[in-house]
Amino acid sequence: MNNKKTFNLTSKSFAKIFNTKEDTLPLIAKQAIKKANFKYKKVENKEYDEAILRIIRTLDSRILKAAGPHRQIDWEKGWEENLQEFIRGKRDLNQLIPKFVKKGAYIRFQGNFIKPESDLFETDFVTVLRYYLFSKYYKNTDTLYEFGVGSGLNLVAASEIFPEMKLVGLDWASSSVEILNSLKQKLKINISGKRMDFFNPDGEYRLNKDSAILTIGTLEQLGENFKPFINYLLKNKPKVCIHIETLYEVYDQSNLLDYLAIKYLEKRNYLRGFLPYLKNLEAKKKIRILEMRRTFGSFYHEGYTYTVWRPI
Ligand SMILES: C[S@@+](CC[C@H](N)C(=O)[O-])C[C@H]1O[C@@H](n2cnc3c(N)ncnc32)[C@H](O)[C@@H]1O
Repeated sequence: MNNKKTFNLTSKSFAKIFNTKEDTLPLIAKQAIKKANFKYKKVENKEYDEAILRIIRTLDSRILKAAGPHRQIDWEKGWEENLQEFIRGKRDLNQLIPKFVKKGAYIRFQGNFIKPESDLFETDFVTVLRYYLFSKYYKNTDTLYEFGVGSGLNLVAASEIFPEMKLVGLDWASSSVEILNSLKQKLKINISGKRMDFFNPDGEYRLNKDSAILTIGTLEQLGENFKPFINYLLKNKPKVCIHIETLYEVYDQSNLLDYLAIKYLEKRNYLRGFLPYLKNLEAKKKIRILEMRRTFGSFYHEGYTYTVWRPI
């Protein structure tokens, strides 16, 4: 029988997820929690079995595309669609929610699948996560660079907390850079875009002093070829780097949901080796890892694990 109990995420729950005290959550995060509907039910029994079967079937099928340099064209097309909808929809920011955020799908949370009441659970959770991390780590920085900026909503969120901050979004898709230009006009914020391919970072392009770095779901796309990009960051000595990314090495091989996430990452050629690489840099006293934490995920894996580090 289905468990009918409804759970809810409150400020207290988020504090626990971030391993902090409730009173350290910034006001803007608390307000976002209040505004959103974070009610959910656990997925159990037959529904759970069906979900597992669906994942195994997908893994066995040929529909999953592997990440790599050949995917640039797909990203270009994807952001072009968002751009056109944004322009047609009188520049409503909701048109910029990425299409890979699936509405109504099960969410991975605390070792289970959950079924949220609201279609916006994932988007709202990311909103809270961003407000929390940005407020905590970007305080003493002047320029925020988001690598793999996509439709720019993460930078818009940063501008709400730090209106004076210079915001730069980099991406290999020119349609993404165009979205940023359009956002600049609409919101009158200090935002600009630049094309760059992170498989071959442009060493001539230097980052400003006192800069902050962000990636969300971008290193994921680099598979095992993330080293040139991390070395580029190291050379530029940013103040702090936040990566909200799936981490192959944090999954537990002996746990069913985690094991399926591992298989999914392998099939899609997603980020692998990143955490050991950072740990090695830390052992060589080149960087300090400030924090690493799992939070939640979508149906196939946990894309919202965060890692924070800074060069020494
Ligand atoms: C999953 S999306 C995430 C977008 C955005 N960070 C967000 O949170 O919505 C990954 C982004 O990285 C970009 N990207 C992927 N591989 C790249 C590469 N090698 N060089 C530059 N950009 C890349 C894609 O175009 C896309 O915008």
